[in-house]
Amino acid sequence: MEEITLVLLSALVVLIVLIKSWGMVSGTSGATNIPGPFAWPFIGNAGYFFGVTDGESALKAFTTMAKAFHDPLNRFWLGPKLVILVKSPKYIETLLTHKAASSKDAFFYKEVKNVTGNGVFTREGEAWQRMRKPLMNIIQPKNIGNFQGIIGKKVENMCEELQLRIDQGFFDISKYIKLCSLEVLFEAAMGVDNIGFMSGLDKYEVIHQVEEEIEEIFVSLWNWKAMTGLTKYNPGDFRELMLPHLDKMIFERKEEISSQRIDYNTDPKSYIDVVIQTAEKEQRSNYETSLLLVDFIIAGSDTQSIVIILILSLLAMHQEYQEKVYQELLSIFGHSDRKPNEDDLKKMVYLEMCLKETLRHCSPPSVARYVNEDVQIDGYFIPKGASLLFALYLPLVDPQHWERPSDFYPDHFLPEAVAKRPKGTFMPFVAGPKSCPGQLYSFQTMKTVVSTLLRRFHFTTEQKFDDLHYKYLLMREPVNPLVKISKRLPTSSS
Ligand code: HEM
Repeated sequence: MEEITLVLLSALVVLIVLIKSWGMVSGTSGATNIPGPFAWPFIGNAGYFFGVTDGESALKAFTTMAKAFHDPLNRFWLGPKLVILVKSPKYIETLLTHKAASSKDAFFYKEVKNVTGNGVFTREGEAWQRMRKPLMNIIQPKNIGNFQGIIGKKVENMCEELQLRIDQGFFDISKYIKLCSLEVLFEAAMGVDNIGFMSGLDKYEVIHQVEEEIEEIFVSLWNWKAMTGLTKYNPGDFRELMLPHLDKMIFERKEEISSQRIDYNTDPKSYIDVVIQTAEKEQRSNYETSLLLVDFIIAGSDTQSIVIILILSLLAMHQEYQEKVYQELLSIFGHSDRKPNEDDLKKMVYLEMCLKETLRHCSPPSVARYVNEDVQIDGYFIPKGASLLFALYLPLVDPQHWERPSDFYPDHFLPEAVAKRPKGTFMPFVAGPKSCPGQLYSFQTMKTVVSTLLRRFHFTTEQKFDDLHYKYLLMREPVNPLVKISKRLPTSSS
């Protein structure tokens, strides 16, 4: 009797696996006509992600999967999920802005949501509009001019700390940049002059812990066990570290609002006001309210920090480009140490080319969207319910579009070179309704920080371009970039 039960149970398990896998089997022929590899029952093609242990191996696995086929679109199954990998600039641009692909796919964003709660980054529909619209208002061009003084002040503080590093050997500048970028975001977009949650703590240690947590989220996303539902990510300690302090910050802002009778509903002045307004409408607990801030803090500071860290390292490797930027800065400021204003930033044309070339090497390798209705495009059929995974990284290194794809070569962004390339080749802020709202703000911050540092310090390094390794987090993040700084002296040509 026991044996019969065992056989029946085994048969049931096999039946469930087969039913669960049916989508994959039919997917190779019926659900979509897009070419892709054979999909194994249950895991599909998640085998590409066997052995992912950190951000570096995650990027490797993703690239191997993306480069395995040469079609502009490929079909994969990651566990139960039908994924259409979008690889060519033409389809990247068309599908990112397609009305059927206006939401993020929970399959790829569930761990982010698991950690950051229900912030603007993972919201959809009306709830998303509720936060996105006022955020756009806060960081629109007419307001960000007011941020210039704040950014200048915070960079000065960082320069003071960096003075101690002059001629002191090679070091990783990341922690200085990340702290500065965080402080700028807090004051500019949130109206808070000090990072409350860091008082009494080792600020650099906090940043390190947050980074580790972000890496864990991303590694868990690109882990075959998570794709097949066998494991679930458990948020670590950083929430315990940050949330009580974010809660205090929100409490203090509420007091200010009530004592000064501030109208934060019709005209929210900072992102904290947006969060307070949203939480009230949605009747959120204090804990959930603080959590609403977390994704914005990470999206708004970590991203641009990575570009700044990388450009300093790349300019240290390429002295000729660093000198060209420096000469441009001399032509704008002479030897004065005044802070840059908005007009100065517009004149930093060569620096902007260098920043874009840096973004080519570090911008987000992929984003994902949910397909909410069937799409027919050039004979390809993409069914509702599939996920579009945009392999933004591939066109960024494709020799078809770049004269020197594997180098740091700012001339890639000369106007005539840009005009020749399809738009979808370079989309660091993506496009469509879920595109990044922080593009202008980040260029303002990046130009101000980098120009100030290059006017003060000369950067060198012993690392070579090919020595740099990258891990896959929000962006491609360089691992342990090392620079040395010395005091800038006037050059003979100046
Ligand atoms: C170089 C700097 C930056 C890059 C390359 C970048 C890139 C991106 C990308 C690719 C997305 C879409 C993500 C996805 O669909 O999964 C995004 C979204 C977002 N970014 Fe940025 N970003 C940068 C800086 C910033 C800054 C400075 C802020 C804030 C001031 C910001 C705030 C956001 C927010 C709130 C979202 C979510 C938008 C939504 O879903 O409505 N980003 N960013």
